[in-house]
Amino acid sequence: MKIIVVDDYEQMSDKSAELLGNAVKSDPNATLGLATGSTPLGTYARLVEACACGEISFAAVRTCNLDEYVGLNADNVNSYAHYMRENLFDKIDINIDNTHLPNGAAQDLDAECARYTELLESIPQDIQLLGLGSDGHIGFNEPYSPFDGHTHVVTLAESTVKDNSRLFSHIDEVPRKAITMGIADIMRARKILILASGANKAQAVYDMIKGEINEACPASVLQRHPDVTVVLDKSAAALL
Ligand code: GLP
Repeated sequence: MKIIVVDDYEQMSDKSAELLGNAVKSDPNATLGLATGSTPLGTYARLVEACACGEISFAAVRTCNLDEYVGLNADNVNSYAHYMRENLFDKIDINIDNTHLPNGAAQDLDAECARYTELLESIPQDIQLLGLGSDGHIGFNEPYSPFDGHTHVVTLAESTVKDNSRLFSHIDEVPRKAITMGIADIMRARKILILASGANKAQAVYDMIKGEINEACPASVLQRHPDVTVVLDKSAAALL
């Protein structure tokens, strides 16, 4: 693992946008695995700026997102599909048909998981961007998710529901289930870029990098990947 520690969220976002931007510049047809949550917002804002000033084009880029809440359709403001359009896709020159997320509103969720797994096999991620849950989750692979899992439906940990409730008007509105890429789908990416910012991530960062590799901390599996870059701010790196 290559570990980069910077001062704060802004510097973390600068570094992350630089690394993702370089992936697109070196391969304009790249497939990017993308994440949601608060952590990548600064990264996306920088990529939007780089596209606006003609430094990067996403015209031939494909994307696949990690996860989506079950029961929210793409127009729901709390869906990850909406988040991606609002924070990135509507502001860059990407072809929206080349952007993919699991469909959390699908009637047949098993069929949707199988569809997404097949899609990921057909367009493997050149680089996968990840945030880190405070319980060590990646995507929505909560503790004890199998390392060999593909896209599946998960029941969210209570701590995740609580963490994510800040984005909803009431905790009862947070869906209790989600569809997520499995850990095996994430590990197939050629490169992985994982970001963490803030003191509430420090224990999960420690467990990911220095802990035993086991399913209690899903992110610890990244120790087995050959090309991982971790970008942390000082608070998230405090226990290393
Ligand atoms: C969420 C998402 C993850 C995200 C993580 C951290 O539950 N499913 O993809 O990386 O938790 O979120 P945040 O960046 O808001 O701290």
